[in-house]
Amino acid sequence: MEKFDWYNLPFGYIKTDYNIRCLYKNGRWGNLETSSSEFIDIHIAATGLHYGQEAFEGLKAYMGRDGKIRLFRWEENAKRMIRSAEGIKMAPVPIDLFGEALFRVIRLNKKFIPPRDSGAALYIRPLLYGSSAEVGVKPAAEYTFLVFVTPVGPYFKGGVKPVNMLICRDVDRAAPQGTGTFKIGGNYAASLRALVAAKNGGYASSIFLDAKEKKYIDECGPANFFGIKENSYITPKSESILKSITNMSLMEIARSVGMKTERRQVPVEELSTFEEAGACGTAAVISPIGKIFDPENNKIYEYCRDDKPGTLTMKLYNKLVAIQYGDEPDEFGWITIVE
Ligand code: PLP
Ligand code: COI
Repeated sequence: MEKFDWYNLPFGYIKTDYNIRCLYKNGRWGNLETSSSEFIDIHIAATGLHYGQEAFEGLKAYMGRDGKIRLFRWEENAKRMIRSAEGIKMAPVPIDLFGEALFRVIRLNKKFIPPRDSGAALYIRPLLYGSSAEVGVKPAAEYTFLVFVTPVGPYFKGGVKPVNMLICRDVDRAAPQGTGTFKIGGNYAASLRALVAAKNGGYASSIFLDAKEKKYIDECGPANFFGIKENSYITPKSESILKSITNMSLMEIARSVGMKTERRQVPVEELSTFEEAGACGTAAVISPIGKIFDPENNKIYEYCRDDKPGTLTMKLYNKLVAIQYGDEPDEFGWITIVE
């Protein structure tokens, strides 16, 4: 096997040995199949290709110092994939089938799980798409569910190094009654113009605002936003963002260390009152935000002095990561050990 530089892994695709596939046909799911091919055979008229009938998930398997492999809240990903499937009229993958596929793909690719001290992890990507032919706009009759894995480092370069973000006012990622709460490919396609513009301007990501009023913070590209002030963890409530499992967990951790938590609309002007800010998600973990630039009024909101993340952000980060890798006891019951 090729030797990996576990300590400098990008967030990118690296080939592993196996992936898992399963077909839904005649109204029921078939058996899980193991494949060593990186390619799929797909009908030229599949709804997944033409009409965006496609949903995915993202979670990680962590190798602990004790040599145990841990999964973090995988049932939440399974439930979210069911909601995404229902949201775009696809056949949902039952939780047990989802879990069985995860455990099998992790066991088969065990040698690709990065060691604890690298801070990297095995990223797991479940994918579901309409695979039978339709030309009229309607849901497919058949679906394909597959799961592949790939070892990854931090999503935003530098790990917990503060990143800068650009407020986006000329692209909407999702409408209030649209599909923003589902984890479906179309939302990511809709975000690309803004993300590329942000990257070209030297920013790690764009921050989307609510599409209706352009007054409130929605989310930070592929991660949720949080701000911290007066010992309170504040995160946007919105009808158009993905409900992050990391964010939900950080709120519980925040409460457990004596912080208050608020999920409510966050007006853009409130950015000037936060002492710390960050982006959170499976891929991002917590990326502290150094600066946010608002091109409408040339305003810069600054959070990190000397390029150092804030103390409460680091407290939350350390606790989350310690639970995920098994350095600390799983006091919330979030971990499943993969035997
Ligand atoms: N928001 C978006 C748009 C995402 O793609 C993700 C990644 O899954 C998140 C937020 C973070 O969600 P989670 O913490 O469940 O990974
Ligand atoms: C994740 O955080 O798991 C994501 O799915 C983000 C992304 C790379 C789309």
